[in-house]
Amino acid sequence: MSEVPGDGSVQTSLHIDPYERNWMRLTVVLLVVFATAVTIAGFALGFQVPSPEERVDPNTVAIGDGPFGEPGLRAYPDGSYDLYVVAQMFSFAPNEVTISAGSEVTFYVTSVDVQHGFKIQNTNVNMQIVPGQVSKLTMTFDEPGTYDFICTEYCGSAHAQMYGTLTVEK
Ligand code: CUA
Repeated sequence: MSEVPGDGSVQTSLHIDPYERNWMRLTVVLLVVFATAVTIAGFALGFQVPSPEERVDPNTVAIGDGPFGEPGLRAYPDGSYDLYVVAQMFSFAPNEVTISAGSEVTFYVTSVDVQHGFKIQNTNVNMQIVPGQVSKLTMTFDEPGTYDFICTEYCGSAHAQMYGTLTVEK
């Protein structure tokens, strides 16, 4: 509240220091920048948040009649695949997979012991693999080549040897 000299009335005004106002402007600009970056990553670059697909019992998931009892590729007539992967210290099953270029692959990955990671080099596929949970992500492989998939979560003494290879054939 401040006295306005002259007319004798009392006026309420919100005084914002110019320095503070600039910080407020910067905050709004940064929010817009971040929102734009997330939008571009999600819609233009195809970044996905891996979804926890379902809950499973890590003690029985790989020995039952379910898809993880026989991990590997399932091919569909439209050329797409489902790939079921079991992670355990210190390997992936399967650890060698071959598909043809242009295929869409939906990965289902689970762990039977501790937390692992599943990252396919030079792609957007990168998931946490938590025992008791199935992580799911879909990716289309247009470029032929050899893609290593590695464990990105320290899981014990031979963590660095935990990897496999996805081959995309022409
Ligand atoms: Cu599995 Cu590191």
